[in-house]
Amino acid sequence: MSVKPTTGHTAAFRPGAFHSEPDGRIFSKTVEKNANPVIDGLSPFLGDASGHALEIGSGTGQHIQHFARAFPNLTWTPSEPDATHRASIDAWRAHENSTTLPAITIDAALDWPGQPELQAITPLNLILSLNVIHISPFTVANGIINGAGKTLKPLGLLAFYGPFMENGQHTGDGNAMFDARLRADNPDWGIRDTADLADLGRAAGLKQIALLQMPSNNRILLLQKT
Ligand SMILES: C[S@@+](CC[C@H](N)C(=O)[O-])C[C@H]1O[C@@H](n2cnc3c(N)ncnc32)[C@H](O)[C@@H]1O
Repeated sequence: MSVKPTTGHTAAFRPGAFHSEPDGRIFSKTVEKNANPVIDGLSPFLGDASGHALEIGSGTGQHIQHFARAFPNLTWTPSEPDATHRASIDAWRAHENSTTLPAITIDAALDWPGQPELQAITPLNLILSLNVIHISPFTVANGIINGAGKTLKPLGLLAFYGPFMENGQHTGDGNAMFDARLRADNPDWGIRDTADLADLGRAAGLKQIALLQMPSNNRILLLQKT
């Protein structure tokens, strides 16, 4: 099946915030800064979890290398609809001589069980998506939650990381300005409200089990398959 991207993915990687290595790895300083706080936040919930973990919208592919080292009992699969990003993900995988599986081409807004690359790794124990659902149309958030409802094992976890609104309010002035910039770039983008995501989760058979504070007014929203 050919996957048609639902948005201009490369717009998510702003000039100046990244550089490319000769072997194709895209390097982001922000990812290096965020990885350990995310790992610390997830650790109490993952412990020594095993099974399959899928990242949606892996971007440069750096995060998943940190996660694979921190949680080695999980089998990690990165995914990306954007071919340039997939090349970076696989270049990171080669550079790290990593246990992560090759990047697959999931467009999260499409019907998940209809995407053949998922069949080898489902049912899933964990789905992670970092900094994706505010830089894509709401159909992507909806698709991730519905996909999680269909592909997670009972008690499996879905984790979103990034900026969120809570009860209709931004969690800081910086996020309010960021939201305005996102919506100016693309009216379908924007910071999502945890209450809307929790509602979608309930309808898909997932319940919210945590909302963790992260540096720079970011959050981890954790939903669990019931
Ligand atoms: C801001 S980047 C974040 C990348 C990475 N997760 C990180 O935190 O550095 C947003 C990512 O979402 C991906 N994305 C956008 N639309 C998507 C979709 N429909 N399905 C899956 N990923 C998507 C983009 O290709 C891009 O890699």
